[in-house]
Amino acid sequence: MSKTIRLDKYLSDMTSETRSKVKEYIRKGRITANGVVIKTPETKVDTESDEICIDGKQVGYVEYYYYMMNKPQGVITSTEKGKTKTVMDVFKETEVNCPRFDELSPVGRLDKDTEGLLLITNDGELNHKLLSPKNHVDKVYYAELRNPVKASDIEIFSSGLDLGDFICKPAKLEICDSENKFAAKITISEGKFHQVKRMFEAVENEVMYLKRLSMGSLVLDKNLQLGEVRELTVEEIIRLKEI
Ligand code: URA
Repeated sequence: MSKTIRLDKYLSDMTSETRSKVKEYIRKGRITANGVVIKTPETKVDTESDEICIDGKQVGYVEYYYYMMNKPQGVITSTEKGKTKTVMDVFKETEVNCPRFDELSPVGRLDKDTEGLLLITNDGELNHKLLSPKNHVDKVYYAELRNPVKASDIEIFSSGLDLGDFICKPAKLEICDSENKFAAKITISEGKFHQVKRMFEAVENEVMYLKRLSMGSLVLDKNLQLGEVRELTVEEIIRLKEI
């Protein structure tokens, strides 16, 4: 969507330079809009129709950024700086450079000891849509358990497990391998605090390892190592927005 913003904001959004640095570029005459040198930082430009260049090189405007991370264990899903390392600290350590890094936030929360798919974006509307209970977005987890999964667990999960403070929506529980009932895939369409762990506790089991494999149409890229981040493809973004 096109919008009109100040030239210095356009440039700092798109280059990760500070406002004062881009103002300096502007004053030095390094910036053109549609071929004309602009020397006033407050000049309004249109993010879609104006062609903005630094030293003759075009700088397009991108509003939203979408990334998937393979979250490692030992980091919390937060954007707040504190004593504990966060997923955003992990992001910063990668080679992926987002010009609007400070606007990014994770979609939903994984526990400190949970690994796997985490979507990170500055698209607040999509974030809200994916988390909204009314959209029932499926999340698939792989869990390793202390005890084998019982046939009755599959039944109990699918009929809506009562956790005392809330009744879970029907969840799909699948044993990964008939020879090894200590590993299972579970699909839930809500995201209550510690939900998967609490569901297994309720059937006298315990999650020893948990990894998120997918969220809606978005599937964790098998080539993404723990702690790595990549941009979503255009197809992945389009499919995610179809909810
Ligand atoms: N359920 C949990 O118990 N933990 C997670 O991190 C995600 C879902």
